[in-house]
Amino acid sequence: MITQTSYPVEPWALRERGLHLDVLPQSESVFALSNGHVGWRGNLDEGEPHGLPGTYLNGVHEIHPLPYAEAGYGYPESGQTVINVTNGKIIRLLVDDEPFDLRYGRLRSHERVLDLRAGTLTRTCEWTSPAGTTVRVRSTRLVSFTQRAVAAVAYEVEAVGGPARIVVQSELVANEQLPGHDGDPRAAVVLEAPLEAEEHFAKSGRLRLVHRTRRSGLRVGAAAGHVVEGPDPTTTESEAAGDLARLTVTSTLAAGERLRVEKVVSHGWSGTRSLPAMSDQVDAALAAAGSVGWAGLAAEQRAYLDAFWARSDVEVEGDEQIQQAVRFALFHVLQAGARAEQRAIPAKGLTGSGYDGHAFWDTEMFVLPLLTYTSPDAVAEALRWRQNTLPAARARAVQLGLRGAAFPWRTIEGAEGSAYWPAGTAAFHVNADIADAVVRYTAATGDEGFERDTGVELLVETARLWRSLGHHDQHGAFHLDGMTGPDEYSAVADDNTYTNLMARANLLAAADAVERHPRRAAELAVGEEETAAWRDAAEAMHIPYNHDLGVHEQHAGFTRYQRWDFAATRPDQYPLMLHFPYFDLYRKQVIKQADLVLAMYTCGPHFDAEHKARNFAYYEPLTVRDSSLSACCQAVVAAETGHLGLAHDYLREAALMDLEDLEHNTRDGLHIASLAGTWMALVAGFGGLRHHGESIGFAPCLPERLGGLAFTLQLRGRRLRVEIGRGTATYTLLTGEPLTIHHHGVALVLDADKPHTLDIPPRRPRPAPDQPPHRRPDRA
Ligand code: BGC
Repeated sequence: MITQTSYPVEPWALRERGLHLDVLPQSESVFALSNGHVGWRGNLDEGEPHGLPGTYLNGVHEIHPLPYAEAGYGYPESGQTVINVTNGKIIRLLVDDEPFDLRYGRLRSHERVLDLRAGTLTRTCEWTSPAGTTVRVRSTRLVSFTQRAVAAVAYEVEAVGGPARIVVQSELVANEQLPGHDGDPRAAVVLEAPLEAEEHFAKSGRLRLVHRTRRSGLRVGAAAGHVVEGPDPTTTESEAAGDLARLTVTSTLAAGERLRVEKVVSHGWSGTRSLPAMSDQVDAALAAAGSVGWAGLAAEQRAYLDAFWARSDVEVEGDEQIQQAVRFALFHVLQAGARAEQRAIPAKGLTGSGYDGHAFWDTEMFVLPLLTYTSPDAVAEALRWRQNTLPAARARAVQLGLRGAAFPWRTIEGAEGSAYWPAGTAAFHVNADIADAVVRYTAATGDEGFERDTGVELLVETARLWRSLGHHDQHGAFHLDGMTGPDEYSAVADDNTYTNLMARANLLAAADAVERHPRRAAELAVGEEETAAWRDAAEAMHIPYNHDLGVHEQHAGFTRYQRWDFAATRPDQYPLMLHFPYFDLYRKQVIKQADLVLAMYTCGPHFDAEHKARNFAYYEPLTVRDSSLSACCQAVVAAETGHLGLAHDYLREAALMDLEDLEHNTRDGLHIASLAGTWMALVAGFGGLRHHGESIGFAPCLPERLGGLAFTLQLRGRRLRVEIGRGTATYTLLTGEPLTIHHHGVALVLDADKPHTLDIPPRRPRPAPDQPPHRRPDRA
């Protein structure tokens, strides 16, 4: 576990004092830089030691066969896995005759700082070689938000206390050796050297490598340019071959003298472009970046982030650790989505190879809500990516004997990549989640062009899927049988409430959108009969309810199941899926992650306040939070049902998921959904933001331990600031036309720059619900 002392609490940075080799893989994830297109893990400049070397290009993957012990119809035949592309981070250093390797010699000081306003990772260290030569090294790197193909490093070495003969090798390296994969040995075979060399070039400090993946047939290019400053004589030499291109800089530094190397790297990839076109592409990106140089890139980065923070910051009073964590979270979610541009936003962003680099429903239900109110353009792009993958989703629906589009449970390029159908294929709710993201984005932006060109098609094809998946029974009720909801400890169950409510909203949204866009509807061959069938299904949607208990059922029959024997389950047997068969988990009342509880947030108007409270009290003691997606959802509903202290505890769990490595797998990459969930727990939890149709409402409330909370949102081209204090909330429209919002159900018209302060009604106290033994969240 990363101990908290490694990251001192401060508002705008994440700092590591000293070098903690035991948690190097975790810190490589935490210090990863990305813009959604290019991702550089926080590997040390010199490449070694490392936990997992990682350079990722969104969409670059390799395919591998998925053999099954027992084959079945419709199983995906191949899987996709993200690959480590050409590494442009590496800058090796030789001091006198010895490699600068922190495992040897004496490390006098070492510090890494992720600066959330500058968008840079800076490292400073002082090291004495085994032979006694001391140097100071300072490097700053960035992955550019403004020039999406570009990353850069400024690297400086200084002789301390005496002269030093210095050799710096700045490299591009392909097919780096990766540590053994502890999971899937089939994928590891492909990954061993996934890139075939096509071209190498080196001249006067300009480097280029172009490779191709073996099976997926993608061309991957990287180029680097350098500016070198050092005392005379400083010499340089460039060379390249196969998987390596290198600039070697040699200099002799007197005490206090410095050698500085500025390296700009450009990355590119394509499934269609020719070798010369790819070489030109990366060279051109390099030329554009070179024209502004390192200083220009750093200035652009800061300006981009200044604008981001002005429209997105969240201020937390009374819990400094959460203040730091939510900014860290916002920064990483921005990094995951900012420039993804019609590519997926993977569950780990571009911070690691966990989940094989796949995107899940995490994108639409966790990441896109945050981006909708802070960086809406990124949301439109993410949903256009879904639209671009419609051919694969339609083909999958046909294969499954269904209509419309069946979007994949997990994927990189659009095809279903889940080999486990009960939690993959059957998790059809991903389709309604995509529809929900379309509706939310359109409501929050009023982007009619998007709705017409992208939204309608996504809504129509998913509505078609639901209509063909379900059936009306003899009494007319509409059922969706054999679905897997968000809780993966229940599978292939009938009438999952979350799925049914989300599908209902999907069907109605599709019918409404078609009425607004008749021409588009005609192009998609939607007739009145079809929309009438959607509305019928929606209105007749069955929502299972246990009248004896007075609670909604997670799925039909769930509350009749035997309860999991929590008392007999030891703390070390969590997560349960690693210690018990799915067979047993599926037939008991035990919940991996918020499911019915999530439905109460996303489909809130379906439940009255009394049911929300009763359902929450019923499901809390069954929910073990074996998924990182759970705590933030529970935080939101805990806040709404008046359990403010518990909500704070859940907020902290979501917020510290990676900073404290709570799930012990931060090494594989960050939990981007849980990071986004930190924002959700604050803004939808304590801010009480709910956005259903045209109605935007807040129901603020603060837990005892927080003194204040403030956040800024983008809404229909306006900027709204919400400030919550102990007894009042203030709403200020910072820019834009008047806006109507609701405060605890009371409508309020806001005019620009006229703050409105309103009292916060007291919450009704309720008895605290229990959690399963050993699964209580840590108290704040
Ligand atoms: C969760 C899924 C989630 C996936 C990726 C799983 O453990 O159960 O809901 O989509 O992780 O984050």
